[in-house]
Amino acid sequence: MKNLISQLLAQAVSTLQQQGELPADLSPRIQVENARDKTHGDFASNLALMLAKPAGLKPRELAEKLVAALPSDPAIADINIAGPGFINFFQARDWLAEQLQQALDDPLLGAPPPNPKQRVVIDYSSPNLAKEMHVGHLRSTIIGDAITRILGFLGHEVIRQNHVGDWGTQFGMLLAYLEEYSVDDQAELGDLENFYRQAKQRFDQSPEFAERARQRVVQLQAGDPECLALWQRFNQISLGHCQAVYDRLGVSLTTADVRGESAYNDQLADIVTQLRNKGLLTEDAGAQCVFLDEFKNSEGKALPVIVQKAGGGYLYATTDLAAMRYRAKELQADRALYLVDQRQALHFQQVFAVARKAGFVPPEMQLEHMGFGTMNGADGKPFKTRDGGTVKLTDLLDEAEERAYGLVQSKNPQLAEDELRQIARAVGIGAVKYADLSKHRSSDYSFNFEQMLSFDGNTAPYLMYAYTRVASVFRKCERSMQQLDDLAPLKLEADAEVDLGAHLAQFLPTLEYAAREGTPHVLCTYLYELAGRFSSFYEQCPILAAEQPEQRDSRLRLAALTGRTLAQGLNLLGINTLERM
Ligand code: ARG
Repeated sequence: MKNLISQLLAQAVSTLQQQGELPADLSPRIQVENARDKTHGDFASNLALMLAKPAGLKPRELAEKLVAALPSDPAIADINIAGPGFINFFQARDWLAEQLQQALDDPLLGAPPPNPKQRVVIDYSSPNLAKEMHVGHLRSTIIGDAITRILGFLGHEVIRQNHVGDWGTQFGMLLAYLEEYSVDDQAELGDLENFYRQAKQRFDQSPEFAERARQRVVQLQAGDPECLALWQRFNQISLGHCQAVYDRLGVSLTTADVRGESAYNDQLADIVTQLRNKGLLTEDAGAQCVFLDEFKNSEGKALPVIVQKAGGGYLYATTDLAAMRYRAKELQADRALYLVDQRQALHFQQVFAVARKAGFVPPEMQLEHMGFGTMNGADGKPFKTRDGGTVKLTDLLDEAEERAYGLVQSKNPQLAEDELRQIARAVGIGAVKYADLSKHRSSDYSFNFEQMLSFDGNTAPYLMYAYTRVASVFRKCERSMQQLDDLAPLKLEADAEVDLGAHLAQFLPTLEYAAREGTPHVLCTYLYELAGRFSSFYEQCPILAAEQPEQRDSRLRLAALTGRTLAQGLNLLGINTLERM
């Protein structure tokens, strides 16, 4: 509502400017507040007071002109001018109630078909396969999955791309080690972390081993069948580990979404040829480089994007160029999103620019790096185990579930063991995901178990609990949140009802914003406020004990829409709701 009113006021200002009533060079910051006293309106703006001086008018006079120039909108029932020149707005309650009813009648909560419908490629998770997934992979995986779900819900076509690092030099080391290792020992190979560490140790200690490792990379990249077979085997195990983590996290990636660096191997030579044909290549100390004027170092010298090393090897950037071309030409994407650490920002600016110059992607295709900050420990330093190692994701999730178990048990000691476990799993995993999603992705964030598992504040347990409160209302009256046909219509009367209703109507605009900017945290904030408004409504407006049956019905409808919006919103964040906890 505030956004809508701001937009309407901005239109009024520009109309007055065109009529010469206001100076043309004004671009005021329009403020709209919740009115303190609802008898005078639901929202108020002090715009006329702010602009009176530059306009050379009395505030009330200007307010009248602004009101006369305001375009009408069905969401606004009435406008008046109060005091020295405040403009007050009354929300159209019947209109709002109608919007909510439409949302209730639609399993998609009123989402219209997108315009334009886009095909969106989302590059997320994309771990390097040499090691097991660790906390550094959490943010891309979780944030990327939420954005994917939101875009899909809004009706866009989403194509997930898990651009795993499966072709780097580390594979030579692993292959060499795999050869001397008792390869049949599947069980031990299961511990990738350990395997990697041992291989690295051999690599660092034995020059002879290191040499063999280097040979294996060359052989592998040249397509040696034996090396390829071993590499494949290794990848399968490694991808199996990733998939287990995705499944446990409830992340929607499957093995079909994997298209790793190796998939582009046979296109890299052509990428370099194309760049050469376009006259974009410069040789620098034997390496093939693209220099772009827009990227300079601190001394003002142009920075190179190296696409082929002096020895002939290709690089991360070369693969990304091939991947972009594939996403544009084969996948026909309108938009490609890259959920990758903020520290790779320059890399993406550069490869985007090269891809455009070379014509690998058409001008109208959007390329967006959606960077994120580092995950730190509660002490603000990078998140590590006590002895300074990287924290494996599985260990982190084990701890989250264990802690959640303790909490749920102390709240609900009478619950049966298997139900306790089930709740603890949903709460533990949900808490980890929500803590990440609720912060703006571009800032670093501190991982803190106590905070994320708290039942108060902007947390998963709080929201999951809010949902169970709605669910219990429906359990008590023995009906489902979907079946409301026999109820009297929805009416917004009490202030708490209007507040809740107005917020419910903001669900879709919130999703659209999150999908455009790649910011699931706005959905978290939205849901948190929704739970808060439901709480006020619940306290102030008895539902099942309402005075009249029509009132009870209307409130049940509001509660149902709240419950369904909470569940849908959490689902879009990849978090499961529970009926009780
Ligand atoms: N594997 C890379 C890393 O761990 C991330 C890949 C991101 N995607 C891409 N197209 N570059 O840093």
